[in-house]
This record gives sequence, structure tokens and C-alpha cells, in this order.
Amino acid sequence: MENFVYYSPTCFVFGKDTERDTGKYVKRFGGSKVLIHYGGGSVVRSGLLDRVKKSLNDCGIPFVELGGVKPNPRSGLVYEGIDLCKKENVDFILAVGGGSVIDSSKAIAAGVVYDGDFWDFYQGKRIEEALPVGTILTIAAAGSEGSPDSVITKEEGMFKRGASGDAIRPKFSILNPALTQTLPAFQSAAGITDIMAHLYERYLTNSEEVEVTDRLIEGLLLTMVHEGPRVIEDPNNYEARANIMWAGTMAHNNSCGVGRTQDWNSHSIEHELSALYDCAHGAGLAVTMPAVFTYEMSHNVMRFAKAAVRVWGCQMDFEHPEVTAKAGIEALRNFLISIGMPKNFEELGAKEEDIPKLVDVLCNGDGRTGSISGFTTLNEDDCTKIYKMMV
Ligand code: NZQ
Ligand code: ZN
Repeated sequence: MENFVYYSPTCFVFGKDTERDTGKYVKRFGGSKVLIHYGGGSVVRSGLLDRVKKSLNDCGIPFVELGGVKPNPRSGLVYEGIDLCKKENVDFILAVGGGSVIDSSKAIAAGVVYDGDFWDFYQGKRIEEALPVGTILTIAAAGSEGSPDSVITKEEGMFKRGASGDAIRPKFSILNPALTQTLPAFQSAAGITDIMAHLYERYLTNSEEVEVTDRLIEGLLLTMVHEGPRVIEDPNNYEARANIMWAGTMAHNNSCGVGRTQDWNSHSIEHELSALYDCAHGAGLAVTMPAVFTYEMSHNVMRFAKAAVRVWGCQMDFEHPEVTAKAGIEALRNFLISIGMPKNFEELGAKEEDIPKLVDVLCNGDGRTGSISGFTTLNEDDCTKIYKMMV
């Protein structure tokens, strides 16, 4: 196990009707003027936004609003949010929505207190200071409610890039599983896929003797395999929604990733797909992961075989561990298809002729120098082969 520091101070407030306490938590974490940031309207239709406003009003906390965050959130609205916060003297950002809304909120929070262009943070500058952010989560997926990360797409060039820093970890996150019951099946499945990707990207490690985090990851993956189909079958299954919601937070607040190197090649390869085609991040991962894992398998066959046996119940073939490893990747692929995820470029809406462009932006865009690196290092040739495997 590698040395590590684990700092995850978010206050999680879990359960039915918890959004009614929003005002109380904004006060507790020092907010006196709030920006409520939200997406394309699901929180308006469900009545959630009204309940949140009522809670702020009841606590005497003034607020301004900015809706319109799109999935794969854009830089344009972030600039707008920064200007609004400065004009209105906002000192707390409240994200009401999914990962896209939370990431846009984090970008605004960092941008308001920074003199330069907020995009600097998405080109590698660490975020050291930000306005406090609170979240009310409406989809179990990205894990942004407990992560120090934000992913934004710059319209100019359609670069989708991430920024990090403990300053943007949410001060509190309100997790009411009932809020996810209005999700369409496709979005639920995309969320399930993203959560599983966050677990796999940590499972694929070059560190030795990391049994405790291996076991945590395996347990969470088994939970997803059990609970995922239950919410696809019955969107109103509160208990299954609850288990998935907490698994989504645990999968990405890095409690499962400490003391070990991690992969993230699948995420990097996928981000170019959601940047170019505006597909759901989870759907992109469903197509990406089996290809990347098959390509990376020879780097450490036993790692994939271990997941195959412990998560997917495959029989270990000690003479041919690659057979077991492959069976595990196949089981993952079949599971994702079974919950309604796409299996190839065509179903995702991606085009083979775009592969050179995808590879170029992935490996050379925005300061990169010809490769990406995680469990293995992948150069342009490797990435081309991987994208071709998805066709
Ligand atoms: O915009 P609205 O109308 O709210 O609709 C959203 C959106 O269309 C809808 N939705 C959300 N909650 C709903 C709902 N519809 C009905 N009922 C509800 N309760 O779902 C759609 C997708 O929302 P989005 O926020 O985009 O989903 P998700 O949470 O999957 O976030 C995806 C973004 O997060 C990034 C992804 O790259 C992508 O841009 N990620 C962020 C990470 C982080 N900050 O740590 C890590 C992840 O790996 C990921 O990269
Ligand atoms: Zn993800």
C-alpha cells in the first residue's frame, strides 16, 4: 500500500425529505447570499426547486438563480455565473441537480475568487480557494457530490477537461434517494455505469497488497450488479435507489482509492466522445470500458481475473488466467447491455471517420504530449486501436 493523506470533510445528509433542511445547512456553512444553480428543468418540474427556495426563505437567506446547465456543462454558463455572483455579492453556491450542475457550480465557485481566467484550473492549475459549495443531488452517477473534481467543456475547441482541489469539495451534500425516482431508465443506467467505472478505474492499480480497498471496490461493484437491475425494473424502488445513491458517493469520494495508483484511461478516452457527440458520460463509458480493459488486459491478467472471479462469479482457470480475465470483461459488457446501455460506436452515435480527430485531441490537445497514462501508458497508436475496437 502507498502512503496517503485522506481528507474528505463533506457533510452528507441522507434520506427522505432532507432537502427541506437546505437553509439550515447553508447557514451552518456560512452562506448569507446564495446562487441556486440548476439544469434544464427537471428540478422545476419535480417541485424540488420550490422546496429548496422555501427552505432558504424560511431561514431568511436571500438568493439569486441561474438555470440552464447542460449535461457535459459548458464554459459559457460558468462565465455568466461568475459575473452574476460578483454583481450580487454571492458568498455560497448551491447546486441543485446532477454531476453537470455540481461541476458547473464548482467552476463558478473557484472562478469568483480568482483574478485570472477560470479555465486556468482546467489546464492543470490546482484550485486552492473557492466560495463554499453545497449540493442537492438528483442523480446517482458522477460522484461530484463528494469529490474534489469538476469537469467542464470549453466551447472553443470542445475541450472537455477536469480541475481539482479540496477547496471545491462540497461543504454539504443532501442525498435524498426519492429525488432520483423521476429519472428516465436510460439516465439511471448511465449513472450506474459511471459508478461502476469509478470503481473499476480504481481497481486497475499497479500497487501491491491493497486488499482492503480491493474488497471495498468488489463489495460496491457487487451492490451495483444486484441493485442496478432493480431500479431499471422499478424506478420507484426507494431501497434500491438508496443503495445505489450511497454506492455512487462511496465510489468516487476516494475512500476506495487511497493507498493505490489508479487508472482513468477509460475516462480520458470517453471524455472525448461526450465532448464531440454530447452523449451521456455513462453511455460513453459503457462502450469504452470493455475495449480499454481488453486492450490493457495483458498488462496484468491476474487483476482482471480477480475481478472476474470475485465480482462476476467466473471460475478461475489457473492454466489460462487470460480466459477468466476475458470472461469477466465479457460479463461486464453483457451487464451494461442488459440495463440498456449502448455497445458500440453506432449505438452511441459516434463515427469511425472521426477517430483521428478524437485521438489527436485526446493525446495532444490542451498541453498533452502524445499519450495518456494510468494503469498503462497509451500513445496515439494505442488509442486509435482502442477506438477502432469500439466500432
Ligand atoms: O438538466 P436537467 O433537466 O436537470 O436533466 C438532467 C440531465 O438531462 C437529468 N436529470 C438529473 N436528475 C434528474 C434528471 N431527470 C429527471 N429526474 C431527475 N431526478 O439527467 C441528465 C443528466 O444529468 P447530468 O448532471 O449531466 O448527469 P451526471 O450526474 O451523470 O453528470 C455527468 C457529468 O459529470 C461529469 C461527466 O463528465 C459529465 O460531464 N463527471 C464529473 C465527475 C466529478 N466532478 O467528480 C466525475 C465523473 O467521472 C464525470 O466525469
Ligand atoms: Zn465518471
